[in-house]
Amino acid sequence: MKLISTSNYEKLSQQAGEEIISRIKRNPTLNLGLATGSTPTGLYQELIKDHKQHKTSYKEINTFNLDEYIGISKKDRNSYHYFMCEHLFEHIDIPLDQTHIPDGTAKDLDEECSRYEQFINEHGGIDLQILGIGQNGHIGFNEPGTPFDSRTHIIDLAESTRKANSRFFESLDDVPKQAITMGIASIMDSKEIFLLVSGASKAKALATLMNGDVREDFPASALKNHGNVTIFADKDATALL
Ligand code: GLP
Repeated sequence: MKLISTSNYEKLSQQAGEEIISRIKRNPTLNLGLATGSTPTGLYQELIKDHKQHKTSYKEINTFNLDEYIGISKKDRNSYHYFMCEHLFEHIDIPLDQTHIPDGTAKDLDEECSRYEQFINEHGGIDLQILGIGQNGHIGFNEPGTPFDSRTHIIDLAESTRKANSRFFESLDDVPKQAITMGIASIMDSKEIFLLVSGASKAKALATLMNGDVREDFPASALKNHGNVTIFADKDATALL
């Protein structure tokens, strides 16, 4: 894993943004894996800014999001569908039918998991996957203990994850208890991975990732077995390294 440390969050977003834009220029039909959470929003701002200034086009890009809450409609402002439209899709020229997110309201959720997994494969797989990390080391919504050979699946969210994400909801009770997430093996299939880590609240997770073993109770550690991972971390996140 290659670690790029930056002095602050803005620089982290800029550097990750530049790398993504250069890959899109090289491959205008890139399959881009996207993440939600606060960490990638600065990066999405950079992509939007560049799109407006330099006209980088997303007309032939397909995007695949990591995860979605179960039981929240796409129109709900807490859904990851809504999040992605608000933070990125509405501001660039990507056709919405080329943006793909698991459907957390599907009647048959197991079938939705298999469909999503197969759909990504039919599109040739993900070229570049953006990831954040949870304080407990989760990637996507793969909580500690998720098998490394997991494919897209339904997950019970850890209480700590629900608490951490409750800041987006009116109350903790409103945070869904389950989500659909790409599995660890699905994420590991990506040709390249960018992991973004920002802030003091992630310093322990980053130190565990860099210095700890590869173990299923720390999902991000699977990334150590991937040959093409770049970690973008700001100063606060690298404080314990
Ligand atoms: C959620 C998402 C993850 C994300 C994590 C960290 O749980 N499912 O993909 O990495 O939050 O979010 P944040 O960047 O807001 O700390």
